Amino acid sequence: MNIKILEKLDKEFSSHKSCLRNALEAGQGHIFRWWDEITSREKKHLLEQISSIDFQFVKKLFRDRLRKVTNRTKGRFVPPKVITPPANDFERNVEQNVRKVGEEALRERKIAVLTVAGGHGTRLGSNGPKGTLPIAPISGKSIFQLHAEKIHAIQKRYDTYIPWYIMTSETNNHITQAFFKENQFFRLDPQQISFFTQGMLPAVDLHGNLLMSSKSNIVMSPNGHGGTIIALKGKGILNDMKRCGVKEIFYHQVDNVLIKIADPVFVGYHLKDGAEMSLKVVKKCHPEEKVGVVVCLNGCLQIIEYSELSREDMYAENDDGALKYNAGSIAVHMINIDFLEKVYQKGETLPYHAAIKKVPYINSNGVLINPERDNAVKFESFIFDMLKHVKKGVITEVLRQDEFSPVKNVEGENSPVTAKQDMVNLFGRWLCNAGVSIPTDSQGNVIGLIEINPFFALDAEELKSKIDKTLKFNGFLSL
Ligand code: UTP
Repeated sequence: MNIKILEKLDKEFSSHKSCLRNALEAGQGHIFRWWDEITSREKKHLLEQISSIDFQFVKKLFRDRLRKVTNRTKGRFVPPKVITPPANDFERNVEQNVRKVGEEALRERKIAVLTVAGGHGTRLGSNGPKGTLPIAPISGKSIFQLHAEKIHAIQKRYDTYIPWYIMTSETNNHITQAFFKENQFFRLDPQQISFFTQGMLPAVDLHGNLLMSSKSNIVMSPNGHGGTIIALKGKGILNDMKRCGVKEIFYHQVDNVLIKIADPVFVGYHLKDGAEMSLKVVKKCHPEEKVGVVVCLNGCLQIIEYSELSREDMYAENDDGALKYNAGSIAVHMINIDFLEKVYQKGETLPYHAAIKKVPYINSNGVLINPERDNAVKFESFIFDMLKHVKKGVITEVLRQDEFSPVKNVEGENSPVTAKQDMVNLFGRWLCNAGVSIPTDSQGNVIGLIEINPFFALDAEELKSKIDKTLKFNGFLSL
C-alpha cells in the first residue's frame, strides 16, 4: 500500500513526497488508509497536516511518556517563602507602597496582558472557546468581555495603554477572533489586541498510532499552556512587545472569572524584587485538592502536580496544624521579558507531559467511536516548568474567594454555576465593606443577584468611594 501511495503522490502532490516518507518511516502509514476515497481537497488538507508533524519527535514523546518530567525527589523539597495577605496595619502599609511601584509601571506602559485561551475545554464540553461563554451573573456577559472591561477600566484608572495578547489554537482561533469582531472588541482599541496561535501535536492511541477523526483528518491537540513560551518567540510576539516598550508580562488563564488583571500589588512585588517570574497562590482547600503546589527544591521554585505529591507530603503539617505544602498555584504569573530572552538564547525548551484522555476517533472501518474509557495520549508542555530557569521569583498568596474561580466542568465544583456565585459573593463582600447589608445563606452565599461593572468599580475600595451609603439591597443589584 505504501509504495502505491508514493507512486500516486508523485503524480498528484510531488512536493509533499518527503513528508509522506517521514510518516511511513515512523510507522504511521495507516493515516493513508482512505486515500483513494477522499477528495483532492481533503488530500491537500491531510498532506498539510502531515507536513506540520515531526513524526520522529512524536515517536520520542510516546517512548518517553512514562518518564516523569518533574523532579519530585521525596523529602528534598521544602515549602517556599510566600508573601501572605496583610494582617495588620504595618503590613497594609507595606502593601500600599508596593502597590505604588506596580501602579507606576502600569502608568509607564511597561505591562502587557497575556491571556491563554488555546485549550479545548474538553471537561466543559462547550461548543465554542471558553472565553465566549456567557458568565456574568446578571448581564450574561462573556468571560472575554469581563476581561476586556477590566483592562479598559485599568487603562482609565492609570491613564495608560495595555497591549493585550491572546493565545488561541488553530482549532479556536478563527471563532475567537470573529467573536471579538462581532462585539466591536468590547470597545477596546482593536490595535491593542493581538491574537496568536500556539503549536499543535497529534494525539496517539495507547500503542503510539496517530488517531484520525475522519478519513482525512488527524486528531491534533494544542501543545499545552507551555506552548505560550514557544509561540511568543516563534510568532514574533516578544519582539512586538518590546517594540511597544513592554518589560513585563501579566499572564493568566482565560477561565478564571475572578482574575485581577494586571493587579498592581502583584506587579509591584514582582518588580520590587527584580523577579524573573512570579506566581500567585491560594491556600489549598483540603490536602487532596487537585492543584499543583509550589515548593522550593535545591533553592529553585517548582510546582509539584497533585498527582506527583506523595500522600505523606500531601498531609504533612506544620507545628500549628496547617498544611505544610499549602501553596496552590492558580496559574497567574508575572514574567520578565529579558528573562525569557535569556532562556531562548540558551536554547532551553520545556518538557512534554503525557496525559491519558478519552478522544473520539474513527476505527479501521471508518466508524466514529466515542470511547468510554481512556484511549489516547496527548502531549502538553506546562508554563510552570519555566520555573527551573528562575533564579528570582516572588510568590504572593491571595484569597481564593477574591481571585480564583475557574470554569472547568459542566457542573459541580469549578463550573459556570460556582463561577457566577463566586462573582456575586465577591460583589456582596465589596458592598458589605461599604456598609451595605447583604443577606447570606448558611453556606455564606449571597441571597440574590449582584453584578458590578468594572467601569463602576474595579475593587472594594473604589466601590466604597462611589456607593450611595443609604442603598438598601432588595435581592437584585446591577451597578
Ligand atoms: P486546562 O488545562 O484547564 O485545559 O487549561 P482546558 O482546555 O481549559 O480544559 P480541559 O482540560 O480540556 O477540560 C487551563 C488554561 O490554559 C489554556 C486553557 O485555554 C485555559 O485557559 N490552555 C490549555 C492553552 O491555552 N493551551 C493549551 O494547550 C492548554
